[in-house]
Amino acid sequence: MSNSLHVAIIMDGNGRWANQRSLPRSAGHHAGIRSLRETVETAVQRKIHTLTLYAFSSDNWQRPQSEIRALMRILAAQLPAQAAHCVRQNIRLSVIGRRDRLPEPVLQALVRAETRTMNGSALHLRLALDYSARDSLTRAAQHIRLNGNGDFLHALMRAYNADCPVPDVDLLIRTGGEQRLSDFLLWECAYAELYFTPDFWPDFNGEKLDTALAAFQKRQRRFGAVPA
Ligand code: IPE
Ligand code: IPE
Ligand code: MG
Repeated sequence: MSNSLHVAIIMDGNGRWANQRSLPRSAGHHAGIRSLRETVETAVQRKIHTLTLYAFSSDNWQRPQSEIRALMRILAAQLPAQAAHCVRQNIRLSVIGRRDRLPEPVLQALVRAETRTMNGSALHLRLALDYSARDSLTRAAQHIRLNGNGDFLHALMRAYNADCPVPDVDLLIRTGGEQRLSDFLLWECAYAELYFTPDFWPDFNGEKLDTALAAFQKRQRRFGAVPA
């Protein structure tokens, strides 16, 4: 695998997974944790450089309060455990998105996780929380307008609190069967290969990541040029 590969995943389908089992939607979010762990583990083994996971979109604030509370509780509870795992596996964990609307326990947990894992070099794992690509692009443009000229990419990084530049997305995976971007990394996916799978996120795992990577390897990327 190329050593600068950026894989991004829209982890979708938790609610439908739970519905199928007559469980509350929050049970689907809980079940998704195992998929996340396995996916991260496989990403390290495959020497993926950056893995960006969409965990909560800015539009997800429109969901019922009870579901948002359950999700935020899961995040606050899982971040310390995930950080410990990241330390063991030499993974750097960082969070992108807005930070001014997250509940205090989530904010504290994410800052702690970032600090604990900041020296990780085996994989850069980025969790997108309260993330909106459109909102980030708009803020970056505003920043440039207010500050005269400037580097747009740095303004964009600043707009969604990215702590360092990362390569553009090479492979975008969406689980859950929908074939849309839902406001995720619109700029960074300009030439991303798109891979959609009907599997709900709780049914995704390392093996399924390997299947997606194998499909990606067969794609011919042209970036607008004529193939050699
Ligand atoms: C993805 O699963 C998790 C979040 C958006 C937080 P969903 O909760 O969107 O599950 P579906 O798409 O309704 O099945
Ligand atoms: C996108 O999924 C956000 C995350 C997976 C975190 P949604 O379930 O919110 O997207 P839509 O509403 O189907 O477009
Ligand atoms: Mg969904």
